Amino acid sequence: MGVAVAASILTADFGNLYRVVRKLEQAGVDRLHLDVMDGHFVDNITFGPTVVAAFRRLTALPIDVHLMIAEPSRYVQRFIDAGGDSLTFHVEVEESDEQKRETLRLIGAARRQPGLAISPDTPVSAVEPFLVDLSLLMIMTVHPGWGGQRFLEDRAPKIAEARRLLGGRPGSAVHVDGGVSGDTAAVVGQYGADVCVVGSALFQRRRDTASEVERVRRAAAGRSG
Ligand code: DX5
Ligand code: ZN
Repeated sequence: MGVAVAASILTADFGNLYRVVRKLEQAGVDRLHLDVMDGHFVDNITFGPTVVAAFRRLTALPIDVHLMIAEPSRYVQRFIDAGGDSLTFHVEVEESDEQKRETLRLIGAARRQPGLAISPDTPVSAVEPFLVDLSLLMIMTVHPGWGGQRFLEDRAPKIAEARRLLGGRPGSAVHVDGGVSGDTAAVVGQYGADVCVVGSALFQRRRDTASEVERVRRAAAGRSG
């Protein structure tokens, strides 16, 4: 199984989410990536558990909830109840290590995939104290908060580091999030990512979504064209 494509809807037409989801399903994406932002951890606000639950009712695609929020321990249960299949918060949040472990364990106890996201300026080693409680690492190749940013290629080696930390543990996954497209996915695949999160590249006027999904898959698999 090659690299999976998780579609981030952050830059999609929020006035037509039903149509957006159907279009992504028809384009053959593997997962839906929902970016939750609280205006504190990042300088942007998107949506909460109510909208995640709406997406859950809309599609059978696995849903990855990317929590860019300052207090994951306070809200995570609501996102579990909303139906996220994986729930990933940022290792940088100002909560105690014990709180972070507790949050990861809560996600695991609910039989969802617990993950930590690592922003571009954070070393991968920051997640080492939490490895036993997680099975997903998300390497940010943009600074969190907005879609449509440039891919930070010099962060790509962190993908291989994350893969090494997770080792071959069954069901584990390294997600790469930010600026991934058919033009940058070759680097992502080369360093061993399991999931490419793709946002704005899927919603370009001039580009067919399905062909961009295919372009990402082929590039990540090391096949040109
Ligand atoms: C940024 C989000 C990303 C973003 C990806 O904070 O976490 O998921 O939406 O979108 P693109 O692919 O446009 O960078
Ligand atoms: Zn994201």
